[in-house]
Amino acid sequence: FETGLLAGLNVVITAGPTREAIDPVRYISNHSSGKMGYAIAAAARDAGARVTLISGPVVIPAPERVHCLRVESARDMLDSALAQLGQCDIFIAAAAVADYRPMTAANQKIKKSADSMELTLVKNPDVVATVAAHEQRPFTVGFAAETQDVDIYARDKLVRKNLDMIVANDVSMSDIGFNSDQNAVTVFWAENQQSFAQMSKQALARELVELIAHQYQQTQEQ
Ligand code: PMT
Repeated sequence: FETGLLAGLNVVITAGPTREAIDPVRYISNHSSGKMGYAIAAAARDAGARVTLISGPVVIPAPERVHCLRVESARDMLDSALAQLGQCDIFIAAAAVADYRPMTAANQKIKKSADSMELTLVKNPDVVATVAAHEQRPFTVGFAAETQDVDIYARDKLVRKNLDMIVANDVSMSDIGFNSDQNAVTVFWAENQQSFAQMSKQALARELVELIAHQYQQTQEQ
């Protein structure tokens, strides 16, 4: 793509999983590796954007020349995202945020005693929906990780979370999506949709940045 595609724009990207503490040594999380979000951060940087990457705990290195903010929980990720909104033209939510967290995190390690125990979970705030509802709303792109009826659920999230675009991946296939090096997606927006066949997350990230930049520019011209 053209190197100046996103010149002068601030792009904020969330990536990786969140960790929701049960006690000081245990947490609830998921299999997100951060690879998809990190690849988008590198592609947006190559397109000329100033990039801020808000990342949950991952083992991969941060891309060069990208401002990386490390967070743990969904609530940390929300605080970090809201702090960026004064300087954010495009927000891309590739993180796999935990939908629920333990109601209370124990201060001390929970001891093994009873044969069963119950953990009460409460809903986490929705990072991308909160950004999209904000008065300083950027152009907002979400992801949807689905295991069935991908198109229906993705379009539903597009509308319900008030997003400009949503990138849907079918995570029921183990060679794409979570933790793999490849992905295949369909992107939905109000007027249309576009599918991308399986390819490396790096190559896909460049395609997505090009498509997102194009849609963003259309909203600016209106
Ligand atoms: O990290 P990788 O191993 O490379 O894997 C990439 C990926 C599969 C994690 C990525 O491509 C992906 O699909 N990310 C979104 C995963 C997800 O949590 O999907 P969801 O359908 O549950 O959430 C929908 C959207 O809402 C997402 O943009 C998510 O970031 C956002 N969300 C969800 C819950 C929440 N509390 N806050 C949010 O912002």
